[in-house]
Amino acid sequence: MTTQQLETQLANHRPAIEQAIEQLGLPLHVFFLEEMEANARAFQSALCAHYSHGLVAFAAKSNPCRGAVRAASQLGLGLDAASEHEMRLGLEEGIPSDHIICNGNAKSTDYLRRAVQAGCTLAVDNQDELIELAQLCERLEVRANVLLRFRGMPLAGLTSADQTTAADWTKFGFHIDEAPRLHRELLGHPWLRYRGVSAHIGTQIANPIGYERLLDYLLRLLESAQAMGLQSDLLDIGGGFPVAFFSRDAWEAFQARLRRTLEDPQLPSVTWNDHPMGYADGTAEWSGKAYWSDVPQAQMVEHLLKHTFPDGRSCAQRLRDLGEPLLILEPGRGLMATTAVTLTRVAGHKDVLGHFVVSLDMGINNHGTNLISPDMFPTAVLPRRSDDRPIDAFLAGRLCFSGDMISKAKVQLNRIPRRGERFAVFHTGAYSADHFASNSCGFLRPGKLAVRKNGELEVWREPESFSQIYGSPEDSLLMSEL
Ligand SMILES: Cc1ncc(COP(=O)(O)O)c(C=O)c1O
Repeated sequence: MTTQQLETQLANHRPAIEQAIEQLGLPLHVFFLEEMEANARAFQSALCAHYSHGLVAFAAKSNPCRGAVRAASQLGLGLDAASEHEMRLGLEEGIPSDHIICNGNAKSTDYLRRAVQAGCTLAVDNQDELIELAQLCERLEVRANVLLRFRGMPLAGLTSADQTTAADWTKFGFHIDEAPRLHRELLGHPWLRYRGVSAHIGTQIANPIGYERLLDYLLRLLESAQAMGLQSDLLDIGGGFPVAFFSRDAWEAFQARLRRTLEDPQLPSVTWNDHPMGYADGTAEWSGKAYWSDVPQAQMVEHLLKHTFPDGRSCAQRLRDLGEPLLILEPGRGLMATTAVTLTRVAGHKDVLGHFVVSLDMGINNHGTNLISPDMFPTAVLPRRSDDRPIDAFLAGRLCFSGDMISKAKVQLNRIPRRGERFAVFHTGAYSADHFASNSCGFLRPGKLAVRKNGELEVWREPESFSQIYGSPEDSLLMSEL
């Protein structure tokens, strides 16, 4: 849903949501299940239309809570698990084990054992894991389903450096040059059942060129495995499907404005402390994370399946030529981001070096993606009024450190907000609520509310209580009492 459509949904369900706020308080993360379903169907349809053999696996790390995983299961999605706990949640919610892909660069022995016993597929990250997995399988007398996860491809600069996960500087996966050795090792292995290869480029990959390159590399890996007699029946290209947080015009206008201010220090800053964001390398070309894409969410999948490689074959054709391996997508952001709005209230505003700064009753532990790189989300003061006059503002959080900025890029607010007014941050359905959730400064983690298609409300997570975090004055627990 666009920001506008989310606002309409908020207005349509206003009485019920306001009642929920009375009970659950603010901030509150509000999810619309209708949008999750529409996004899931769009990914599934894009696969169906261009390549019949695909699986959409929800990246649970983007929204690790039972409600979201239950909804994913009901929509017939698989699961990308990042831990034994996400895997367990998927199994408990009825996702078939052969639709669960276990990821992670530092899997515990317990995670490996449970995944093997449940029959999930393991995206094996490194040699130590491969060795332990083989030993474990021999002891348990169970064969493991193995995907080999790779890095080392020329895929840097497509998103922020800390979210780049298949290029050179990353902790994830085997280097692609190790593929021939690994394929030989798995050929005829008694305990490790080779299923195929996987990679995940990173998140918010706005430019299709990244996926086109990735697919070429991964398809070549499958082709060379096949040539040595190793048949692949899975190809997992990870997630990363982008969201258009802004319209093209708004995004290009922001870029142009930032470039002008970096070139002319006399102009007022549009980023906090004049952060260059995508212009950090000093060139006129934006590099890294972008907040608009020509082919957002499922449209990227359609684009890729139709993409033609230099040998004249489409991606779908190359897959068919390989015997139709199951193509696995692991969307987190592309599935969830546009489903949610985080509601909070305005705490006040002040002038900092001539800039208008609004303080919000939430911190980056409730919307923490700025901790990775300066991030941008649409925002509004609600309800809108006919006499609204736009104003540029930086958005500050409530935590006790200066870096706690909800937006380090200036946002255009519809009006100067007053203390106590309702404030909305849009497109927060992926990562925002959980990735850096903490009790920093003693704030309790807020609740998550889901609005069903029929208007019924589901509490996905209750807000934390004071005693859950601090116990009561009489509490004291000795180790011997555990
Ligand atoms: C292996 C893997 N798959 C999928 C995802 C989901 O990425 P996104 O939310 O960008 O779709 C991630 C995110 O970190 C990941 O690590």
